[in-house]
Amino acid sequence: MQSDLEILPQSQERMRGNEILEFNMTMRNIRPIQDPDKPKVYIETYGCQMNVNDSEVILSILQDAGYVLTEDMDEASIILANTCSIRDNAEQRIWGRIDQFRLQKRKRDGVVIGIVGCMAERLKDKLLEKVDLVAGPDSYRTLPEMIEAVRPDSPQINVLLSHEETYADIAPVRLDRNGVSAFISIMRGCNNVCSYCVVPYTRGAERSRDPQTIVAEAQELFDNGYKEVTLLGQNVDSYMWEDEDDMDRNVNFAQLLEMVAQISPELRVRFSTSHPKDISDEVIYTMAMYENICKHIHLPVQSGSSTMLEKMRRKYNREWYLERVAKIRSVIPDCGLTTDVIAGFSGETEQDHKDTLSLMEKVVFDSAFMFAYSERPGTLASKKYPDDITYELKTERLNEIIALQGRMSLRSNEKEIGKIHKVLVEGPSKKNPEQLCGRASNNKMCVFPSLGEKAGDYCFVEVESVTSATLICKRVDEDITEL
Ligand code: 5AD
Ligand code: SF4
Repeated sequence: MQSDLEILPQSQERMRGNEILEFNMTMRNIRPIQDPDKPKVYIETYGCQMNVNDSEVILSILQDAGYVLTEDMDEASIILANTCSIRDNAEQRIWGRIDQFRLQKRKRDGVVIGIVGCMAERLKDKLLEKVDLVAGPDSYRTLPEMIEAVRPDSPQINVLLSHEETYADIAPVRLDRNGVSAFISIMRGCNNVCSYCVVPYTRGAERSRDPQTIVAEAQELFDNGYKEVTLLGQNVDSYMWEDEDDMDRNVNFAQLLEMVAQISPELRVRFSTSHPKDISDEVIYTMAMYENICKHIHLPVQSGSSTMLEKMRRKYNREWYLERVAKIRSVIPDCGLTTDVIAGFSGETEQDHKDTLSLMEKVVFDSAFMFAYSERPGTLASKKYPDDITYELKTERLNEIIALQGRMSLRSNEKEIGKIHKVLVEGPSKKNPEQLCGRASNNKMCVFPSLGEKAGDYCFVEVESVTSATLICKRVDEDITEL
């Protein structure tokens, strides 16, 4: 089987590690509990931000059932991998990990190994040959009973998908260390059925979560010192809460954004992912109205060729995409724009590939996730369209896309020189601990001298020089800015 390539640019967010944090004194689960007497669970998370948040939901459910988190697999009685199926290489990595988990079983009796998430949903029984427990994305509430029921000759599986489950009532236990930025899932599943994508099969149909529970969660995070929330969904623009009694009380995504933004001007609001066919003018104007809604849109284009977009079933074409970008930039001139690109989809010609490059040059994205097409079993593309671009050609095209994006990222960053940004401090810079790092509203990473601030403080900076991944800044006084 052909292995696929996955390149994550430096500037993109990395997965955060799991670890034991301070004891939680509040009623609700914000931080992991430490208690040496309780059985320990170790969770590894793969894939998207949604999975990070799902791991936080899983931890909440398991904490309520008496387990505590550990970051040391050697002391865990439950070992879980929350998995991703989006590309073949994501799955291959997990098969390799399962073999390592199984070594733990040889060392210690009674260890339970579980695979949860998208790969559990896709491969079902096939995984039971290797692990004790398999749970799909909609069955996390049953994890405690499943773990209890595991016996050497009786593995447990629950891969039922739901039309209702949103885990709205579960307070996720935050796995990030700095206590500044948190994810909130506002919906689950996807109804789009892009022809290459396995997500609708692993995460099921789309459903939106009650907006009141979303606002309450954001408020609680803010009360606990968090300064930034990212509203997550596979396609946030199709968020729609339908009020059973009164249609006038329905809430769409633009309205939800506004509700969350109104919690406090000190709380930043981000969101991901937008779909080019659905992002509405109302969302764009709402972003413009609130200073604390960050001026960044992740708008996956996938291809610059209308022929490919049609085959991918994206339901927009090149012109539509460029019009949406023009609209965003006319309302929010400094809006950060990032994207996803797939190289080498079925039947992609040299001209289709050139169309992708020319679109990237036209738009000048700040950064991009770039992938070689990986055929996923069960998808429409796998049934209808042959995976006919050779590995060598996919790689060549992907490398061209990556090289171009490197130049575009640099060009986009160079335009920032001299601009002033309000930055939310994340902590010391990794390269130089004397300096601080944090993101501007447009999601660009800034590095700047510390004046003793800590994670969660806001600072004003002026961009002095750039690399393709970072803005190198000096400090400016707040009162000379008009931000
Ligand atoms: N092959 C390669 N990339 C894919 N993506 C989704 N499915 C595939 C696939 N089969 C990419 C898309 C999507 C991102 C999350 O992953 O670019 O936006
Ligand atoms: Fe997959 Fe398309 Fe849904 Fe994104 S919108 S999760 S690419 S089907």
